Amino acid sequence: MRAAMCREYGGPEVVVMEDIDPPELTMGCVRVRVAAAAVNFPDVLVVADQYQISSPTPFVPGSEFAGTITEVADGVDGFAVGDRVFGSVMVGAFAEEVVAPAAVLTKIPAGVDEVTAAGFGVAHRTAYHSLRSVAAIQPGAELIVLGAGGGVGLAAVQLGAVLGATVTAVASSAEKLEAARSVGATRLINYRDGDLRDQLKAQVTGGADVVIDPVGGELSEAALRRLRAGGRFITVGFASGTIPRIPLNLVLLKDISIKGFEFMSFMGNHTEEMLRNEAELLDLLASGKANPHVEQTFGLEDSVAALRHVGDGKAIGKVIVAIGSR
Ligand SMILES: NC(=O)c1ccc[n+]([C@@H]2O[C@H](COP(=O)([O-])OP(=O)(O)OC[C@H]3O[C@@H](n4cnc5c(N)ncnc54)[C@H](OP(=O)(O)O)[C@@H]3O)[C@@H](O)[C@H]2O)c1
Repeated sequence: MRAAMCREYGGPEVVVMEDIDPPELTMGCVRVRVAAAAVNFPDVLVVADQYQISSPTPFVPGSEFAGTITEVADGVDGFAVGDRVFGSVMVGAFAEEVVAPAAVLTKIPAGVDEVTAAGFGVAHRTAYHSLRSVAAIQPGAELIVLGAGGGVGLAAVQLGAVLGATVTAVASSAEKLEAARSVGATRLINYRDGDLRDQLKAQVTGGADVVIDPVGGELSEAALRRLRAGGRFITVGFASGTIPRIPLNLVLLKDISIKGFEFMSFMGNHTEEMLRNEAELLDLLASGKANPHVEQTFGLEDSVAALRHVGDGKAIGKVIVAIGSR
């Protein structure tokens, strides 16, 4: 099968295209003929060996996929050959076939195509669990989203609006802010137009209840300072490459809290709340109330360009690697 391959760590350019043997089917797993894979920022970090979990080389990059089951191993219940599914693994998705544990798969709702399903998983799940469970957001809340044109940020804008929040989107360009407006943001701030703290003060006059931060760096403190008493700052990632240092006196004086969200540990924790969130999210996908904004689709042979586009922070919403139209 054709697959992208990472044999040494580095920037996206270390990834090469190869013909390799399909992965072996193991107990509890299914084989999926991949139709589309989504590129997530962590895929770039995994190739660079800068992610929190190291993947030994050689490996096929790519974590999020959608396609059709072609083979089912022993120990799998609830899935059959021919089922259309989407899911995520650590690595292996930028290939014609992926073998994945049945536990990480969800059936694609009728009427939803593979590109939409591939781009829906990680970003929307991260945003929804962060908003619904970690931030406990309520209708009428004031929400600030940093990195609002990126995969997680744009999903947080859309889902924040669905959950009844008034959303202020912060991003670096008019194009990213327009995408945020199109999925529900009511206030738009380009942090390159002036000091973010001043812009937030002028626009979010009563203060915010929740900040979703997938970016880190110097924007974090400015957004945190706009929280009002009882506000929650949710740290989701550090796409800027800089982990901010927040003066703790702000937390004390403002009576706010800083919380973190980590996808693997949250998903691995099969609480009733997590399962409730997943069911609600699937309903939103099936009804068309939530879907990824797909900015660009690359072919499998262009996986390097797809990784670079995301790694450079240029992506607006989701970037897809289309493996084939089947
Ligand atoms: N906690 C979890 O479980 C979890 C799950 C998924 C993702 N994440 C993390 O969340 C972060 C965002 O992921 P994503 O998929 O939304 O990424 P993305 O689509 O690339 O968006 C990241 C945004 O960060 C901003 N940015 C600022 N400096 C950047 C730089 N030097 N390089 C790249 N982007 C930069 C950009 O917005 P502006 O142009 O507006 O500045 C960009 O739109 C990543 O760090 C990822 O690892 C965490």
